[in-house]
Amino acid sequence: MASNYGVKVPLFLLILSLIGSVYYSDASSDEESQPEEFVVTLDHSNFTDFVSKHKFIVVEFYAPWCGHCKKLAPEYEKAASILSKEDPWLILAKVDANEEKNKDLASEFGISGFPTIKILRFGGSVVQEYKGPREADGIVTYVKKQSGPASVEIKSADDAASVVEDKKIVIVGVFPEFSGEKFDNFTTLAERLRSDYEFGHILDAKLLPRGESSISGPTVRLFKPFDELVVDFQEFNVDALQKLIEESSIPTVTVFNNDPSNHPFVIKFFNTETDKAMLFLNFSSKNIDAFKSKYHDVAVQYKGKGICFLIGDLDASEGAFQYFGFKEDQVPLIVIQTNDGEKYLKTNLEPDQIVSWVKEYKDGHVQPYKKSEPIPEVNNEPVKVVVADTLQDMVFNSGKNVLLEFYAPWCGHCKQLAPILDEVAVSLQNDADVVIAKIDATANDIPQGTFDVKGYPTLYFKSASGNVLLYDGDRTKEDIIDFIQKNRDKSAQQESGKDEL
Ligand SMILES: *[C@@H]1O[C@H](CO)[C@@H](O)[C@H](O)[C@H]1NC(C)=O
Ligand SMILES: *[C@@H]1O[C@H](CO)[C@@H](O)[C@H](O)[C@H]1NC(C)=O
Ligand SMILES: *[C@@H]1O[C@H](CO)[C@@H](O)[C@H](O)[C@H]1NC(C)=O
Repeated sequence: MASNYGVKVPLFLLILSLIGSVYYSDASSDEESQPEEFVVTLDHSNFTDFVSKHKFIVVEFYAPWCGHCKKLAPEYEKAASILSKEDPWLILAKVDANEEKNKDLASEFGISGFPTIKILRFGGSVVQEYKGPREADGIVTYVKKQSGPASVEIKSADDAASVVEDKKIVIVGVFPEFSGEKFDNFTTLAERLRSDYEFGHILDAKLLPRGESSISGPTVRLFKPFDELVVDFQEFNVDALQKLIEESSIPTVTVFNNDPSNHPFVIKFFNTETDKAMLFLNFSSKNIDAFKSKYHDVAVQYKGKGICFLIGDLDASEGAFQYFGFKEDQVPLIVIQTNDGEKYLKTNLEPDQIVSWVKEYKDGHVQPYKKSEPIPEVNNEPVKVVVADTLQDMVFNSGKNVLLEFYAPWCGHCKQLAPILDEVAVSLQNDADVVIAKIDATANDIPQGTFDVKGYPTLYFKSASGNVLLYDGDRTKEDIIDFIQKNRDKSAQQESGKDEL
C-alpha cells in the first residue's frame, strides 16, 4: 500500500508519533511468553452488563494488526496482574474494536485510532480518556491514582512535596474547612479535569512549597513548571474556574525537545486553533539565551492575539524538518503556520530580528513560504519535471492537457510506473497539446484545494480548459493513453484550423 507520509500527515501527528516512540521505547518484547489472563476480554455481548457492575474500569479498544497495540499488550497485561491484587480489584479490560460485531460499540465510544484507552466510572455513566503512560509501572501508578479520589487531601509538608511535582500542573484548593459550596465546586471540577491535571486540597497553605503562604479564605492555587510557576484564583464558578485553569496551563513559550515531560504541552500547542509560531535552533548553540529572551518578549507581547509560540530543539525536530522541507543549515529559523495551512518563513535568523519579523508578519508584509525544489535548468526528457515554483505555469496556466504524476523518491510503485509513463510520453511526443509530467510530492508543496494527494503514485489529469480528474485506471500505457484521449480538450487549432493565440 502506498504511504502518504510527508504529504497529508499534519505536523502535530508527526510530532505525536515521535512522542509515541518515546513512550514505547522501553516496552519489553517477550509478548509471546506471557499467557494472558488478567486483562478481561469484553465484546458486544457482555460489555454493557460487565461495565454496569463496576464503579471503575479501564478499557482498551485495540485492533489485532496495530503495532502500537502489540507493544502495549504485554505491558497492559503486566499492569493488570499487579492491579488485580488491589482491593478493590482494579480491572483492565480490552475490546477488539476491529471485529465486525464490536464496531457499533467502538463507534459509540468514538474510537478513531488504536489503541484508545478509556476510563469508565460509575457503571459506565462517566467516560474519560486515559492519558497516562503505556508501560506497566506507569500504567499501575496512573490507574491507582485515577481510581482514588479526584483530589487528594494534603496533610503534611511531605504530602505536599509528593503531590506538587516539579514537572506537572498541579491544582491545590486551600480551604478553611472541607465543606461548603466552594469546596463542592472545586471537587466537581477536580472530577471533571482529573485525567488532565493533578488535584489536591489543604487546610494550611503554609505547607505548600511555592507561593504566598498567608492565604485568607478559599483559594485555588495552580502550580506549573513554566512561566510564573504559581497562580492563585478566587473563582469558584465551575466553568469560569475551568477556563482560568486551561488558560494558565498553556506556556507563554512551549518548549519542544526530547524531554517527555514537555510533551503534554506540545500536544496542547498543536491543538490550539491559533496561528503557530515555531522557532527551531540548536539548544546547545552559544546565543541560545538571547534567542530565548527575545522570543519570550514577543510571545508576551502577542499573548491572546491569535498566535502562540513554540521553541524547538534541532535535536528533537527531525520530523518537523522533514515535514516542512527545512535544512539544518537554515537554523536558527522561525516558521509561522496558520490554521489554513499557509506558512511563513525566515531562515538564518538573528535574535534581534525576531520582534521585527513577527510584526512584519502580523502587518501582512511577509510572503507565504512554499517548499519547492529548484526549477530544473534543462527539462527535455519526455516526462517533464514540475516543481512547486513551476506548477502554475506548467500545469494550471499552460493551456495544455497535462497528466501529472505525484511521486515519492522511495516509492516502489512509482519506480514501476516510471518506464510506463515514459512510453506514454514518447507516444504523445508529437502532440503539442499534451504534456506528461511528474512532481516529487515530498519535496514540493501542493497548494491546498488543488490536487488531493493521499498516496504515491497519484495521477491527476488537467484538461486544457481546466477540468481536473483523478486517474484511477490501470497503470498501463494503453489505458493511460485512452484516458488522456477521452478527456482531453480539443485545441483551438484542431477545432478551427487556426493558430492558437
Ligand atoms: C465476553 O464474551 C467473550 C466472547 O464470548 C468472551 O471471550 C469473554 O470472556 C466474555 N467476557 C466476560 C467478562 O464474560
Ligand atoms: C458553584 O458552581 C455553580 C455552577 O457552576 C455556580 O452556579 C455557583 O455560583 C458556584 N458557587 C460559587 C460560590 O462560586
Ligand atoms: C548542536 O550543537 C552542538 C554544540 O555545538 C553540537 O555538538 C551538536 O551536534 C549540534 N546538534 C545538531 C543536531 O546539529
